[in-house]
Amino acid sequence: MGNLEFNLTIEKIKESRINQVDFSNLAFGQTFSDHMFVCHYKNGSWQQPQIKPYAPISLEPSASVFHYGQAIFEGMKAYKDDNDNIFLFRPQENYKRMNKSAVRLAIPEFPENWFDEGLKALLKVDRDWIKKGVGNSLYIRPFIIGTSTGIMASPSKEYIFFIITSPVQAYYGGDVKVKIADYYSRAANGGFGAAKAAGNYAGQFYPTQLAIQEGYQQVIWTDDTTHEFLEEAGMMNLFFRIDDTLITCPTSDRILDGVTRKSVLAIAEKLGIKTEVRPIKVQELLLATENGSLQEIFGSGTAAVISPISGFGYKGKDYKINRPTDLYASKIKETILNIQYNKSEDPFGWRVEVI
Ligand code: COI
Repeated sequence: MGNLEFNLTIEKIKESRINQVDFSNLAFGQTFSDHMFVCHYKNGSWQQPQIKPYAPISLEPSASVFHYGQAIFEGMKAYKDDNDNIFLFRPQENYKRMNKSAVRLAIPEFPENWFDEGLKALLKVDRDWIKKGVGNSLYIRPFIIGTSTGIMASPSKEYIFFIITSPVQAYYGGDVKVKIADYYSRAANGGFGAAKAAGNYAGQFYPTQLAIQEGYQQVIWTDDTTHEFLEEAGMMNLFFRIDDTLITCPTSDRILDGVTRKSVLAIAEKLGIKTEVRPIKVQELLLATENGSLQEIFGSGTAAVISPISGFGYKGKDYKINRPTDLYASKIKETILNIQYNKSEDPFGWRVEVI
């Protein structure tokens, strides 16, 4: 994988841009902190990494990523508690998942300890960009792109691994309305839907644009073969509460194994909520809506945290969810935020302090 020794060089920005930023009014993912972590792969190994000022990069037009899409990424967040301590949430899960995505896209794996050390060093350099207060965080975007020149359709021989970071607040301002897919698909059996690959997002944009024109914010993807089974929402995994049971579909090679998803399951169980991980059909959802047993739907993800869904559309018809006041989404969200912002005990050992 990498050279054994991790010799990070740090070049600091001459003048920080932090004073130009209105931290109380941030559009998601539009503002970037002062520095980025960069590591090149060539001659069969990862080279010595650097932290340097966030700046444009230069690539040849024939660089592999532009043609064949060898690009994977991760989504993580850093949080600050009231005493200015910095925390990550289950970062090992992201290190592992990025390497799973790498394998699927024929990209060389990045050493997990380098990821860990590099990320923590970057967060320390840009620590002022992490603002206190629940809801404020620094979104972390690690990604790898193929950079070899030439347009033969084969895996790149050179890559760059970057980590850039962006101060953020909530991804969605309020509840989300979704459309259940009955024609387009996000992923197929044997495909790479489980990888956090750029192409999985590109393929969603057009059907999502159509859904947005119809008044929805996101698409709930169904299985590509029958469109009968509810899968994920592209940016979020999904939870359905029918009566008092919280149901989510199993992960597969079509579905992203969300870190927030598995945290929701563990928290729900701890809160005494009955959970079921099993395939769930569109017909079951329609029936539960009609007979009143559907209590709530919510999405989970790093960017979106826990996002309640107010209603859904299916085959031209709109369905509203009559939600109770004691939402599982609210209880679970509170528990997860309390852990992330160091406001409660962490019985699961998920919080990792950046020292
Ligand atoms: C995340 O939740 O980290 C995501 O990957 C969503 C992102 C595409 C905005």
